Amino acid sequence: MTGRRGNRQDRTAVRRPEQPGRAAQPGRAAQAGRAAQAGRAAQPRRAAPAPRPQRRPEPRAHQVELLFLPGLEALVRDEAAQRLPNLRRLEPVPGRDDSLAGQLTGTLIDTASLRTVVAAFLVLSFPVPNPRGLLGGEHMPDILAAVRSVVALNRRDRPRSLRIEAAGRDSPVLRKFAEQVAAGTSLRHDPDDGDCVVRVRPTPGSQGWDVLVRLSNRPLSARRWRVAGHPAAANATVAAAIARLSRPDPAQRVVNLMCGSGTLLIERLLVAGARAAVGFDVDPGAVEAAAENVAAAGLRDRVRLLTADIDADDWLTGGPYDVLLADPPWGDKAGRHDESEALHQLLLDRAYAGAAPGARLVVLTHEIRIMQRCIGRSRDTWRLDAEIRVFHKGHNPRMYVLDRVAAAH
Ligand SMILES: C[S@@+](CC[C@H](N)C(=O)[O-])C[C@H]1O[C@@H](n2cnc3c(N)ncnc32)[C@H](O)[C@@H]1O
Repeated sequence: MTGRRGNRQDRTAVRRPEQPGRAAQPGRAAQAGRAAQAGRAAQPRRAAPAPRPQRRPEPRAHQVELLFLPGLEALVRDEAAQRLPNLRRLEPVPGRDDSLAGQLTGTLIDTASLRTVVAAFLVLSFPVPNPRGLLGGEHMPDILAAVRSVVALNRRDRPRSLRIEAAGRDSPVLRKFAEQVAAGTSLRHDPDDGDCVVRVRPTPGSQGWDVLVRLSNRPLSARRWRVAGHPAAANATVAAAIARLSRPDPAQRVVNLMCGSGTLLIERLLVAGARAAVGFDVDPGAVEAAAENVAAAGLRDRVRLLTADIDADDWLTGGPYDVLLADPPWGDKAGRHDESEALHQLLLDRAYAGAAPGARLVVLTHEIRIMQRCIGRSRDTWRLDAEIRVFHKGHNPRMYVLDRVAAAH
């Protein structure tokens, strides 16, 4: 988001295709003609050289920004490198711990494949002192072109309306901005529920103002498979991060202990297949919700769900497991604090009972002190590989990545 203060093309992040410049060269035929006119002896005619293939115009470079939950940056970088190889120069947005910005060449559609990201935006930066400078003739055409390109990107689920997100969005200037964008794109201005989100903000770490257009109608974190809820359902982008931490491989046997509505299991299976996939919960209502979500994700035939207590042996029959995932109950939504330590210890002990040699256990929990004590007591069975804090809606849970300790000889 720096170094964009040059000519007009450089100032806006949406660039028009660059036409490769070629200096005009006199052709050989013309040179030969001039030689003949100068009275020199005519040379034997040589075959005209084949016309040079026209170079294709360089693909467009878009400035894009990825919004994620603070704490997930390394995992977002990892996923972006894998899924968007044409996304270059990914840098943190100045002053923010939840956003990365970079240059994406080619199509924007691939941003929709990011699972650890809350939303992806197309970014335009303008050298204007205030949002009034965005109105009217000079910059509005670029803004309209960006919104139209996002509408075209979402043609299967075409946005009908538009909403502006900005500090002071009810000010006369931003109202006028909304009206101009709506009029120029045929989107209805719906300040509360508009599908196409357009953000206006001062350019971070620089002069000027940015216009960000969200690339998808719904946030990427809102999963289509989530048809049944759970009061303590895990955030899907955190679940996707957990899936990545589990070193996903289709040859693995995977179990989601205390699976609730199945978020961790579904996200793991959508990253890579599995040789076996089991989810269980003591609450039959949660297992029903998981079954609905699993079916909506198209995974019904690949998952075995059961109502079972972690202390029982039913779920062990699908193992031993290479990957074990869990987010045990926390707070008043799903459990009692005074039972938490016993349950976290039980989780580590029982996970070990179901773990194959070399297995990895990833646990998401808000009970930090309790979890640390339990890990300390389990040092003969689990080795802590990583502890990653995530910030989410006022909660700061952590992801614990644990590797099964090889059995002593
Ligand atoms: C935080 S919730 C899991 C939410 C889930 N990740 C989701 O996205 O819906 C914890 C779950 O642990 C389950 N649970 C609590 N004690 C259990 C036990 N002893 N055995 C199996 N499941 C248990 C609860 O029923 C609850 O569904």
